[in-house]
Amino acid sequence: MPDDSAMMLAAGSVADAALTGLLQPRKTLPAKLFYDEEGCRLFGRITELPEYYLTRTELALLADVAPRVAGMVHEPAVLVEYGASDETKAEFLLRTSVFRAYVPIDVAVPQLEQMRARLLKRRPDLLVCTVPADFMDVAALPTEVPSLPRLGFFPGSTIGNLDPLEARRFLQAARGALGDRSWFLVGVDLRKDPAILLPAYDDAQGVTAAFNRNLLVRLNREAGADFDLGAFAHRADWNDDASRIEMHLVSLHDQLVHVAGQAIRFARDETIHTENSYKYAPEQFAALAEQAGWHSAELWTDPARLFSLHLLEPRRGP
Ligand code: AVI
Repeated sequence: MPDDSAMMLAAGSVADAALTGLLQPRKTLPAKLFYDEEGCRLFGRITELPEYYLTRTELALLADVAPRVAGMVHEPAVLVEYGASDETKAEFLLRTSVFRAYVPIDVAVPQLEQMRARLLKRRPDLLVCTVPADFMDVAALPTEVPSLPRLGFFPGSTIGNLDPLEARRFLQAARGALGDRSWFLVGVDLRKDPAILLPAYDDAQGVTAAFNRNLLVRLNREAGADFDLGAFAHRADWNDDASRIEMHLVSLHDQLVHVAGQAIRFARDETIHTENSYKYAPEQFAALAEQAGWHSAELWTDPARLFSLHLLEPRRGP
């Protein structure tokens, strides 16, 4: 689940990150800049939109799948959640009696501490070892994590926001951190008809458009930028070859914008590419997992085949 990690970037780093992308021949902005306080609030609204099927479909699937996963893990184990800004999804697994410890990994320290306090009240028997880190950078778990079998958990199709190379690097690192006695439950949005995908990223109420444009609001506030918000439109495209939804901000006319004192020219219809959301057919994701040292042992999808949960186990043999 996204968090407000980017809020913690110093003002200089927001400007640096923005300029690095905006000075490319094809302008981009890093998606991690979405999640300032307003971005987190807007993402919360997105998850409740009728068009955004991902969150509610995954929650319904988890209710069904969590007891089965717990049954497969069977022995006392540790639950390790990557990118955990709250415990809503982990609760489905923690409710089963299998897990002795919960290891939420996230950059948002206040959220981790609030989670620990909530869980301590509800589950005093559960050891909570918070890891304040970017989930992309965790090569090993802290030594206080009990050496029991581990179930990694990466819900929300956040893996779809990584390009396939980054996703493979992430899965490989998780394979190393979780160890040989492990599983990895990953939520992956499925490749499907663009007629379903496109409205999920361009909803009728304009919440996703506001989420996308909020990047410019943030740069105006934190990076000394002077974007005219009315001069950029939200656009979602389906890129079939790359199997991804792309979000863009489209310049509505020729214009000059300044970011941290640097002038940046936009031609009419030129875009800033702000996010990729990769969609995987089950066999595509299974192949990616194999390259990263995992084997997709079980796959669950909802009846409408909108969303998938892969249970990975370490790949044996060469
Ligand atoms: C966080 N992530 C999985 C969302 C997605 O669907 O790619 C972010 C998002 N962007 C636009 N709407 C939602």
